[in-house]
Amino acid sequence: MNPTAISSQPLLLSDAEELRDLVESARRDGKTVALVPSMGALHAGHLSLVRAARAECDFTVATIFVNPTQFAPGEDYRCYRRTLDADLAALAALGVDVVFAPAVEQMYPDGHTTTVDVGGVALPLEGVCRPDHFRGVATVVLKLFHLAPAHVAYFGQKDYQQSLVVRQMVGDLDLPIRIRVCPIVREADGLALSSRNEYLSHSERRQALALSQSLRLASELYCVGERDAAVLRQRMREVFNSAGIGDIDYIALADRDRLEDVAVVGDETIALVAARVGKTRLIDNHLFDAPFAIHPAAR
Ligand code: PAF
Repeated sequence: MNPTAISSQPLLLSDAEELRDLVESARRDGKTVALVPSMGALHAGHLSLVRAARAECDFTVATIFVNPTQFAPGEDYRCYRRTLDADLAALAALGVDVVFAPAVEQMYPDGHTTTVDVGGVALPLEGVCRPDHFRGVATVVLKLFHLAPAHVAYFGQKDYQQSLVVRQMVGDLDLPIRIRVCPIVREADGLALSSRNEYLSHSERRQALALSQSLRLASELYCVGERDAAVLRQRMREVFNSAGIGDIDYIALADRDRLEDVAVVGDETIALVAARVGKTRLIDNHLFDAPFAIHPAAR
């Protein structure tokens, strides 16, 4: 398939049965099916997943659903940006075949009670700060995997722990789907793309650079031989302090598979940070197996 070909408008569906019929028919025709789940408010990070899906599969389904069950009371569920028209235009330009944008009642009809608790890798870090978050993510992702039985699903490395949680669920529940995790897309100055960056004021946008700068510093120190996690964590904390960010949820140096803290950093380590800049909570991470690099948005 030629990923640069511009196709017509994707088919917009809100009905789960129609979605499943279409995907099953694509599979019967011998096509490999890609699923790109999202909550909309699409930015170049999401679009990089779509590009990968288009390049690697024959039939691409994107989903847009602001999933209420992964937000805690007081989080930004109500004000999360809903930009369906712009999202559809961006997905059409990339040649997506189907966009599934269900209503909340379609995904969670009255009487819905089943949830998915992954445990293990879902428990530290985000699991501590947002205790119900991954239950909501795993539940909706499992439902999407059933509604759109794709061969491959695409997730972004920015939500690194989420990708581990999804992989764990796929393994534990023997789901016949492959998980592809694509690199973080960053602004030229290093800020990881996030739908929540839109909430930042001009000065908060500058402060928010502390997240990527702390990761870049950790990477540079690692490249010149520093291996002590406590030293790296302290140097990263100083970057946040200099930026005037006091509300840090975590600065973690952890094993990349289990997310357990490490004392000695190696190629299998990941640095993960989460902090509030003003009222906006941001996350970012860096895998030490390669130097910190900026994957800019494709134009
Ligand atoms: O990463 C996201 O946008 C969401 O957590 C996901 C995977 C679409 C589930 O709602």
